[in-house]
Amino acid sequence: MLGRFPVRRPRRLRQSEGLRRMVSETGLEVSDLICPMFAVPGEGVRQEVPSLPGVYRMSPDLLVEEAAACHRLGIPAVLLFGLPRRKDAQGSEAWDDGGAVQQAVRLVRERVPGLVVITDVCLCAYTQHGHCGALVHQQVDNDRTLELLARVALSHARAGAHLVAPSDMMDGRVGAIRRALDEAGLTEVGILSYAAKYASAFYGPFREAADSAPSFGDRRGYQMDPANAREALLEVELDLEEGADLVMVKPALAYLDVIRRVRERFPVPVVAYNVSGEYAMVKAAARNGWLDERKVVLEILTAIRRAGADLVVTYHAPQVARWLREGA
Ligand code: PBG
Repeated sequence: MLGRFPVRRPRRLRQSEGLRRMVSETGLEVSDLICPMFAVPGEGVRQEVPSLPGVYRMSPDLLVEEAAACHRLGIPAVLLFGLPRRKDAQGSEAWDDGGAVQQAVRLVRERVPGLVVITDVCLCAYTQHGHCGALVHQQVDNDRTLELLARVALSHARAGAHLVAPSDMMDGRVGAIRRALDEAGLTEVGILSYAAKYASAFYGPFREAADSAPSFGDRRGYQMDPANAREALLEVELDLEEGADLVMVKPALAYLDVIRRVRERFPVPVVAYNVSGEYAMVKAAARNGWLDERKVVLEILTAIRRAGADLVVTYHAPQVARWLREGA
């Protein structure tokens, strides 16, 4: 019905840059990017993460400068992770109003108006055991963790976060956080839920950056099985019912089908997290001269957008913003 060769020749529309631009189905713009950043306690601290070249753990005074640079590049939002001075069994520094991430949020809000501030809400970087919740008999106790997560989210919101992003995968945490925010009168603070977050080996470099690897066991008791896609739809539906404003699929590259299914089923913005392992693989290959970094990164991010992601969290964000500006 569409006709066939020699009448139909798809190459006609690939002949020139102009034609290719006209028929391009997927755009990648700086406004699609969210830049993750790591806040550490102290002043004047700027340490590169060995497995994430070009990514730094920074004290709030320096992080704010990097956030300002992102804003100047046109990146609309940053996603902030925090590290504590001290870890304990409950991860109590996570809800300390004077913590590194809370300080960073306040500084960025003050000095970089216009930049959207999102905070990761989780306990794994703050607990001695490195799990994402409170332990009871060496198991992460779901319902006990909810109250702790609500405290963390409240503390971030009080510091000025526009969106809080729970990444722990406890059941009911979006509802618990929504209620806590509303009761505190913080009805305008939104929730970006890591709704379909898989138990992935691609988080390795992040755990080095956040010093958040579990000291025993793994996260398969709360994060999703990579084999499951239908279950992702259930997770997203539950989070939306509980009040999530945006939903995330994570990681991105090995889960493009999940991104597509979430996009087709639900009318909310879909965020994909191009995670640390995905970044590290590209960096390592590029450093060896085995891949053209610019081309590969733009291809990966375009593919994530094509799968259906509205927004992409990526450690490549500042570099991509520069490439896009140069008209890559
Ligand atoms: C915390 C959290 C993790 C990531 C984001 N938030 C790690 C994990 O669940 O172990 C991973 C991000 C990345 O790999 O870039 N729960």
